[in-house]
Amino acid sequence: MDKVFITRKISADALEILTSIANVEIWPEETPPQKDTLLSKMEGISGLLSLLTDPIDREVIVKGKNLKVISQMAVGFDNIDTKTATTNGIPVGHTPGVLTEATADHTWALLMAVARRIVEAHNEVHDGIWRPWGPDVLCGMDLSGSTLGIIGMGRIGKAVARRAKGFGMRILYYDTSLQKDIEAETGAIFSDMKNVFSQSDILSLHVYLSETTKQLVNAKTLALMKPTAILINTSRGGVVDSIALTNAILEKKIAAAGLDVFDPEPIPLNHILLQQKNVIITPHIASAGKTTRQKMAQIAVQNLINGLRGEPLLHCANPEVYSKSK
Ligand code: GLV
Repeated sequence: MDKVFITRKISADALEILTSIANVEIWPEETPPQKDTLLSKMEGISGLLSLLTDPIDREVIVKGKNLKVISQMAVGFDNIDTKTATTNGIPVGHTPGVLTEATADHTWALLMAVARRIVEAHNEVHDGIWRPWGPDVLCGMDLSGSTLGIIGMGRIGKAVARRAKGFGMRILYYDTSLQKDIEAETGAIFSDMKNVFSQSDILSLHVYLSETTKQLVNAKTLALMKPTAILINTSRGGVVDSIALTNAILEKKIAAAGLDVFDPEPIPLNHILLQQKNVIITPHIASAGKTTRQKMAQIAVQNLINGLRGEPLLHCANPEVYSKSK
């Protein structure tokens, strides 16, 4: 029987078929296995089911002498050295599609919470401060009529655009290719990146982390933004230069931010951004809908099974692997 290592507990339903065809070991802790543990587990396994917090680098991959498949339970796979996986003939699975709506929902929750200062208002009430109704009290941004900029108009960017349409927003976007379908559906307008940064009232990031998107939001691009603008990031922390963002918030170069991801994660407890009322931070939970997480687990397990059987994965992050021989 093939041996499989799963780096965290996942939905029991999803595991059922797998346990009948493979010898499965599940890491029991809430925190990821340390690198040394991961390296020792790689010896002898044919399949690895990983999460985005597991650094699956070259050293880990080459240690898996019998490895047939890496299956990640996430849409993003920047924690995996896919080049080494490809060179070694190992397909890498991921779980796009099923988490689109949940991630767009969370993006929208952050966006609304920041725009309408929900956390700040909630904290005031809990602190015993109920300010009398006043024309200027806790005023935020009106969404209707404002411009939402979307960088990365893939599945999640499109789901966010649909929500923006419902809220009466103007939508600008930048992507590496024109997305005519969403233009027709929502009236979104393609623009160059510089324009999206400078014209948006709210800018939302929906790109994979790669060499080209790393620190796409930096001192230079933040300087293009309106001083009244809000930045929302539910993509990857590394897409934003954290130091530049911190400076932009402290120097009021932008008005506020809603972040589900940060570089590094977790954000250090003494980080000055945690003391800012205009910054809302959640701990990388954008896809955390119960049904969504079940579906992600099911796809991850199916990818793993397909990989063990030498069949094509449902969603493969390195499809070029199929044109290479091991
Ligand atoms: C979450 O961040 C994911 O990539 O699925």
